[in-house]
Amino acid sequence: MVDIIYDASSRCWVLQMETSTYCIELGEDDSSLQHIYWGPRVALVEALEMAHAPKPPVVAFESPTGMSREEYVPWGGMRFNEPSLKVEYADGTRAIEWIFDEYAIERSEVGQTLWLRFRDREYPLVVTLYYRIYDGHDVIERWARLENSGGGGPVTIEQALSADWQLPRRESYRLIYLYGQHMGETQIAEVMLGPGKVVLESRRGATSHQFNPWVALDPDERATEEDGEVWSMALAWSGSWKIVVETTSYGAVQCVGGLNNFDFRYRLDEGAHLDLPVFAGLYSNNGFGGISRKWHAYERERVLPEGPDAVRPVLFNAWEGTMFAVNEQNQMELAEKAAGLGIEIFVVDDGWFGERNSEYAGLGDWTVNPEKFPRGLNPLIARVNALGMRFGLWVEPEMVNPDSDLYRAHPDWVYHFRHRSRTEGRHQLVLNLARSDVRDWMLATLDLLLSEHNIEFIKWDLNRYVSEPGWPDEVGHNPERVWLDHVRNLYWVIDELRRRHPGVAFESCAGGGGRVDLGILSRVEQVWTSDNTDAFDRLRIQEGFGYVYAPRVMMCWVTDCPNFLTRRILSLRYRFHVAMAGALGIGGDLAVWTPQELEEARDLIAVYKRVRPTIQNGLLYRLRLPRAGGAAASQYVARDGSETVVFVWGHSQQFGETQVPLPLCGLEKDMHYADSLNGAIYSGAYLAQKGLPVNLVGDFDSRMVHLVRIAPR
Ligand code: DGJ
Repeated sequence: MVDIIYDASSRCWVLQMETSTYCIELGEDDSSLQHIYWGPRVALVEALEMAHAPKPPVVAFESPTGMSREEYVPWGGMRFNEPSLKVEYADGTRAIEWIFDEYAIERSEVGQTLWLRFRDREYPLVVTLYYRIYDGHDVIERWARLENSGGGGPVTIEQALSADWQLPRRESYRLIYLYGQHMGETQIAEVMLGPGKVVLESRRGATSHQFNPWVALDPDERATEEDGEVWSMALAWSGSWKIVVETTSYGAVQCVGGLNNFDFRYRLDEGAHLDLPVFAGLYSNNGFGGISRKWHAYERERVLPEGPDAVRPVLFNAWEGTMFAVNEQNQMELAEKAAGLGIEIFVVDDGWFGERNSEYAGLGDWTVNPEKFPRGLNPLIARVNALGMRFGLWVEPEMVNPDSDLYRAHPDWVYHFRHRSRTEGRHQLVLNLARSDVRDWMLATLDLLLSEHNIEFIKWDLNRYVSEPGWPDEVGHNPERVWLDHVRNLYWVIDELRRRHPGVAFESCAGGGGRVDLGILSRVEQVWTSDNTDAFDRLRIQEGFGYVYAPRVMMCWVTDCPNFLTRRILSLRYRFHVAMAGALGIGGDLAVWTPQELEEARDLIAVYKRVRPTIQNGLLYRLRLPRAGGAAASQYVARDGSETVVFVWGHSQQFGETQVPLPLCGLEKDMHYADSLNGAIYSGAYLAQKGLPVNLVGDFDSRMVHLVRIAPR
């Protein structure tokens, strides 16, 4: 059980979690909150003892406060590190001096929350720091609430980060993070921290393909996949964000993150408050695999919306086959074939609405195109339902093509500055969703679509980032708030749609994986991982994705060969084996698949359905890393240990070499495991020590092995 304890004599709060402990202390004069400990679980007395450890001496040109290890750093006084919070008061004072006010520990059915309130000594700023922990987990959710308590005019917020995580003192730290691009998301970067700051950020108005708001740090490069200490942080925000990992001049390492302060100002009026996004953190001493499994469990149990599906359904999407040329006839034909394969959700992608025959027109006009669907969408939906599938639809509600009725009617609805260009990306502009009229239009339009059709799945896309974020009518009235309010209104629209249409599942897509983060994951069932559907490239994308995000949210399609991007030709089985590592979809043009391919696909989908609870909801072990080259392998173990699924994806065979057996993880040594496909039986000890025999042959060969636990023979 997790627990939060306050010890009055040492003025410490101790957060006891599943396998870790976190300890903080009220600083001298009640004017700061100090970090004491974050690491493996220790007894309460041990945590409290650490608060008595001598503080390092203050060096010249620094102050005791500036050198202390603050949990949240209000800019003011002699502080030079990255501040958590920087404001300007109405009279021009720009320094915060706060004092502790009160705290509470609140218990719920699933965990506990500690909040601590600080107030500025003079000005009407109240800051409440939150720490929430959950039974069975090691994640600490941290965020802050900023309030203007009134009587002193508005408070202008210049930087408002969610939390400052202090790492224990070590010789050095390795920082692991995810970077990428369109068609190449979630690549893994590793750097050794030196003096100075590493700033990871998005200034794009959305999470971004370029960096994902997640980091992991291990001391002295000691962690491996399954061993060693790792601290990891992830931000729940889908707009511009910033994570700063700073090694101070006196050797402390801290990681602070939240809303990006670039081009940002937010006026907090009297009586108003602002809740900052969660910046979650966790500790594991089971290496990178350990943190991944902890993030996955947290997402499954505490982040993802509660939906009707215990597992994600198998989906079909014809985008790569039909592109914009969708019509009732070709979708009907595809639906027949998809149903024959065992598909569970049939999705119509881009092209079904307005004058949307290419990228150039139609975005914003969310009415069914009468040439393509003369009878509307309902006959197709009825057929899809009659075939036993749910119907899903693609939308990109935040965007508008200049060639659209919406833009012709509301040219002022897009972000723009006076006398400046409106730069188009993919021939589209971004609607100013911070505007309440745009927000209300969006909700009404999508609500109508969902009310008039039996749509049970929405793929919500975004195919360019925010540029020229002007709002001419609001000049002088804090138009910079668009960076925040666009995302808040996006969340509001999705939340409201979910409330009105509880049977609809959502997928977050932004030209692939441009909007994947814990914030969007709390309101969608899954995400589109990447527009790159080449199975070999996907291994690297999926590897990085899995460091933080759970396999059940990772939508993976099997598409046609040669791949449209890489021209690579891979066997259908290999493509399936890569896509089966997450939530499976088929994105190929079934109209051109041969009867043999359709039969093989049907069989593999049936196998996937049998094993998907273990893949989607089990424990992931990365046995051989794709980025290491050679054959890659992953293993999934059911949480009750009853079965395990192994994928091995070969690269190329040279000199007639054979693979060494693959030692497995997470099995019981005294039990036996039967291969459900060929009947072979192994002991757990054998699989852990000697390893699973895998004989891949040639190039891009692959295997899936499904082992079921049985009593020892
Ligand atoms: C980008 C998405 O990632 C694709 O899957 C597809 O939906 C296109 N947009 C449609 O325009």
